[in-house]
Amino acid sequence: MINSPFVTRHSKGGMNLRMLVTGGAGFIGSNFVRYILTHHPEYGVLVLDKLTYAGNLENLAGLEANPRFQFFQGDICDEEPLGAILKSGVDAIVNFAAESHVDRSILDASDFARTNVAGALNLMQTSRKAGLGRFLQISTDEVYGSLGPTGAFTEATPLAPNSPYAASKASADLLARSYHCTYGFPCLITRCSNNYGPYQFPEKLIPLLITNALAGMTLPIYGDGLYTRDWIHVQDHCSALDRVLHDGLPGEVYNIGARQEKTNLEVTRLILQVLGKDESLITFVADRPGHDRRYAIDPAKVERELGWKPEIAFEDGMRRTIDWYLQNRAWVEHVRSGAYRTYYERMYRDRTRTLAEL
Ligand code: NAD
Ligand code: TYD
Repeated sequence: MINSPFVTRHSKGGMNLRMLVTGGAGFIGSNFVRYILTHHPEYGVLVLDKLTYAGNLENLAGLEANPRFQFFQGDICDEEPLGAILKSGVDAIVNFAAESHVDRSILDASDFARTNVAGALNLMQTSRKAGLGRFLQISTDEVYGSLGPTGAFTEATPLAPNSPYAASKASADLLARSYHCTYGFPCLITRCSNNYGPYQFPEKLIPLLITNALAGMTLPIYGDGLYTRDWIHVQDHCSALDRVLHDGLPGEVYNIGARQEKTNLEVTRLILQVLGKDESLITFVADRPGHDRRYAIDPAKVERELGWKPEIAFEDGMRRTIDWYLQNRAWVEHVRSGAYRTYYERMYRDRTRTLAEL
């Protein structure tokens, strides 16, 4: 990787590449920042994050004193902070900034259109004018829609997003594609499957189940619980992004996944078993409207072309993740207080109602 043509072209005096990570105070972004600072000891990392309900400076705790790390609070939709940061000399942007929760997009998609589409476009527009060397757009397998009982998404699978969240992510992918075709803008797109691991906000399935079980609360399972997701530990996602960023080809799409399909009930039972809790906590609730039945990623391209492979097996990764939530009770308490409680009340108290009543 150190010999990557991108690094050779853009690093100054060897390896001190400067990277802007947007959305770096969220779940995957913060894990990625730590990954890069650890694996590339001469890189500088700047974070631009709006600190929405999902952004949390506690996710970056301990990095404040690192001279290779800088944090800026700001919105990717605004030209101003971005222009100033780009002027300071940035070689690459990795865009994680997004509204990321399907259920929230069903309640109101306005922020999804604003950040995920207009914000991503502003990043591309502004950084293209500044002559940026590389732009990595972090996308999702959800842009492909839902699968039947067999098969997996490849990079050639047509886009067929079903939720407002997925549609907003697909829109950004299409803008990135057009920027490469029209201007030769050096952007790459990754589409990863469902992530789990430390620092994930407990509106998403796995941290919601863990933190509810720890609090002795019921575990809300949508529909019949047989919906299937393809899980990858966030650390494996980060190692794949590192590969794509350095060695991927501009204009290309790379699917990322670890071939670990599980039904939601399988995931739930594993968590209960590891925590020694009773299955009577499982509560079936009203289904998500437009709920995608199954996702599965075929990661053959990133494995074959970039030599990446995942390293964390699902059960081992889950045990480590559950342990992290057990060891970080203060983090859990902070994120589950305040606005999260209001959200939880609204989302789950009303789940027995029909969609029209939402
Ligand atoms: P997250 O919700 O935990 O974090 C999103 C971050 O973006 C937060 O820190 C938030 O403050 C910031 N943000 C939101 N709007 C912003 C704006 N307008 N300007 C600046 N910052 C803003 O999300 P995540 O789970 O870490 O996902 C990160 C990215 O990865 C997203 O683009 C998502 O679509 C993609 N992705 C997520 C998964 C997954 O399983 N979580 C899987 C595949 C792809
Ligand atoms: P989620 O973590 O929201 O990720 P995504 O919808 O982006 O894949 O949900 C993962 C799966 O878990 C999905 O099939 C919906 C289901 N789910 C529940 O059954 N109960 C819940 O409380 C949540 C949040 C999700």
